[in-house]
Amino acid sequence: MGFTMGLNLLLLVAMVATNILSLYHLSSTIQAPKPPPPQQVPDHLLHQLHTIRATINHLTRHHPGSSSGVSSGNSKPPVPSDLVLYSHLSPIASSCHDNPDLLHRYMNYTPFSTCPLDSDLAESLVLRGCHPLPRRRCFSKTPTKPTSSLSQDPFPSSLPDSNVLWAKYSCKSFDCLNRFNPNLGFDPAHDIANFMTYKSELDLPIPQLLQIAKAANSVIRLGLDVGGGTGTFAARMKLYNITVVTTTMNLGAPYNEAVALRGLVPLHVPLQQRLPVFDGVLDLVRCGHAVNRWIPVTALEFLLYDVDRVLRGGGYLWLDHFFSKGVDLEKVYSPLIGKLGYRKVKWATASKTDSGGLKNGEVYLTALLQKPVSK
Ligand SMILES: *[C@@H]1O[C@H](CO)[C@@H](O)[C@H](O)[C@H]1NC(C)=O
Repeated sequence: MGFTMGLNLLLLVAMVATNILSLYHLSSTIQAPKPPPPQQVPDHLLHQLHTIRATINHLTRHHPGSSSGVSSGNSKPPVPSDLVLYSHLSPIASSCHDNPDLLHRYMNYTPFSTCPLDSDLAESLVLRGCHPLPRRRCFSKTPTKPTSSLSQDPFPSSLPDSNVLWAKYSCKSFDCLNRFNPNLGFDPAHDIANFMTYKSELDLPIPQLLQIAKAANSVIRLGLDVGGGTGTFAARMKLYNITVVTTTMNLGAPYNEAVALRGLVPLHVPLQQRLPVFDGVLDLVRCGHAVNRWIPVTALEFLLYDVDRVLRGGGYLWLDHFFSKGVDLEKVYSPLIGKLGYRKVKWATASKTDSGGLKNGEVYLTALLQKPVSK
């Protein structure tokens, strides 16, 4: 109903506009020495009318509910179901509207002065799908006495505390984080052997990975580590002269800063965001611990298809210690991964034997999958 009325209004406006235009044309041609015969409609007006008709046709085509002439009482345009889903799961800028309070706080600052210390607020918005964030005209705070002697070594003996703003964290030093949990990755030297040893079938040491790629005539130069924490995988690959960028969030600790302090590229990108990389450009995508059964299946499906988008033909997807319930691996995740149509280079599963794993009947999967060369 509303749309039909709107259409009538549009027609009316169009009619009035056309009349005003012809009136203008006639009045302006009065001054001309030789006015055209009064019956003849000038070409440009005919053209304008055609344009208006075409516009209306176009509009009605996009609203099939109203163009039939039958008022359905529902004039909402059909929205592709994927888009609806996407707007809930995944950042498109309009998600900012869903979080007006956070957004208001984020944009409440004094222009041309120092920004509030609110990187946690920015991250909250990003995680809720408000991304890219609006720009601000203020200066982000930097640490007051940063050290300038930054290590070229991606496995330095320690990371400099003075280069991080600790205000938002309960720990105020990397030592504190390491005491709290030595496996978070904030002691780089401690992790130098990671990705290098084979302890179980679930491991894929980097030398073996490179050997597999080489044997398949597929070179690995460029990769992305999804949810890569402090960037240890990228660090190890750097020693092989392979460039890996790491997506990482600052959940409770300065992960992005730690990656950067190792001389690696941190991408501040949540799991549900479209990867900021063009189609078909990467040789390798690794999904580590961060990608697991806690991600909603639909979000995981989007993630896998986006990984497929950024991988070149012949590139590799490495699911490293993906964990889920055993029954779900069989019923949900294997079919999901299978839909990609990748070649299974490696597919190893084993029980997850920690207390949580035993309690929930969880299993690990490590898979190396190769994207077909052409589709
Ligand atoms: C990496 O590049 C450097 C400089 O070109 C070279 O000296 C080194 O041998 C390379 N390392 C590997 C593992 O290829």
